[in-house]
Amino acid sequence: MLDNLKQQFSEIFGQPNRNVFFAPGRVNLIGEHIDYNGGLVMPCAITMGTYLLTAPNKAGVFRFRSSNFEETLEIPLQGSYEKTGTEWYNYPLGVIHNFLKQGKGVTGLDLFYYGNLPIGSSLSSSASIEVVTAFALNELFNSGFSKLDLVKLSKKVENEFIGVNSGIMDQFAVAFGEKNKALKLNCNTLDYQAVECNLGDHFLAIINTNKPRKLTESKYNERVGECQTALKALQKELNIEYLCDIQTDTFEKHQSLIEDPTVLKRAKHVVEENDRVLKAAEALDQNRLADFGKLMFASHDSLQHLYEVSGQELDTIVDFCKQYPAVTGARMTGAGFGGCAIALVKKASFDDFSTKIIDYYTSKIGYAPSVYSSEIGTGVVEL
Ligand code: GLA
Repeated sequence: MLDNLKQQFSEIFGQPNRNVFFAPGRVNLIGEHIDYNGGLVMPCAITMGTYLLTAPNKAGVFRFRSSNFEETLEIPLQGSYEKTGTEWYNYPLGVIHNFLKQGKGVTGLDLFYYGNLPIGSSLSSSASIEVVTAFALNELFNSGFSKLDLVKLSKKVENEFIGVNSGIMDQFAVAFGEKNKALKLNCNTLDYQAVECNLGDHFLAIINTNKPRKLTESKYNERVGECQTALKALQKELNIEYLCDIQTDTFEKHQSLIEDPTVLKRAKHVVEENDRVLKAAEALDQNRLADFGKLMFASHDSLQHLYEVSGQELDTIVDFCKQYPAVTGARMTGAGFGGCAIALVKKASFDDFSTKIIDYYTSKIGYAPSVYSSEIGTGVVEL
């Protein structure tokens, strides 16, 4: 595959590439819509991701090409950039903009991207492209950023350049992921532990709804706003900085401060989900996979009914999983509103599971989902 990409690079740019970088996508095992509330999440990097081939050019331009998209951009070196339209190249352009803003010098570069992550399917294709670009620029121009700086810079691209008020989980997982480990990340302090993800006789299945995602960004920002409203209400009596600074008992005592019933549901999800992550990490550590699976189902229920970011497609997948004996746990992963679900499926039954869930989903939804068995891979690297 790499040879093929290298050949394409030469054909496109009329020169061979010099460097190759890779950043993965991620799945989040549990802890959804928690990162921007300062709590605990448990993502892991997967082996699918984004490849970036580069070579410097003397023309003093950035040339962006992708084998996944037809749109291209060729733009001269400038002191700053602005988002133009919604095309894919805004992500790397935003990264360059932020390097410049932080006083880092860059020179003309040819960039060729190839991703094998399904796009817009909640596996963090955008964080993957941001982090691979940031990592590459840092290496190529000796910018001296730490990996954590690159994570923060990439999050800024998402928040300020692209306009999604997302948390830090995706960029963090894509940068710091470790083989066969999940990251137990505290999104407030950014302390993390890489915990062994021993799934025993299970595969981690990814089931893509293949639902075209619409409105994800505005609905996402709406949820972020609702959490801020809940926080402000609780701050009238509690000295807290984030919703995840309190546990369920404190929440229950003070929840009457939140007047709007919808906002109350959102906050309840956040506080309880944060608690589930703690329990899930313990269960994983003690090889209690059945308990881990129950927490996954509980997480999904809460995202469906309290946080309301699931949808018919994701619920259909999880409903099937609940009654299929060889599934130990399942839930939506990522922002929601479509995208992917994950499931712990007994290895011996994986083929049967795939066939049956495809039939079930297709009969209910009218088109087929995609099913992958995923491996937990490493974070961003130069190849
Ligand atoms: C998206 C965002 C993350 C996180 C998840 C939900 O993936 O980019 O920051 O909020 O949704 O957990």
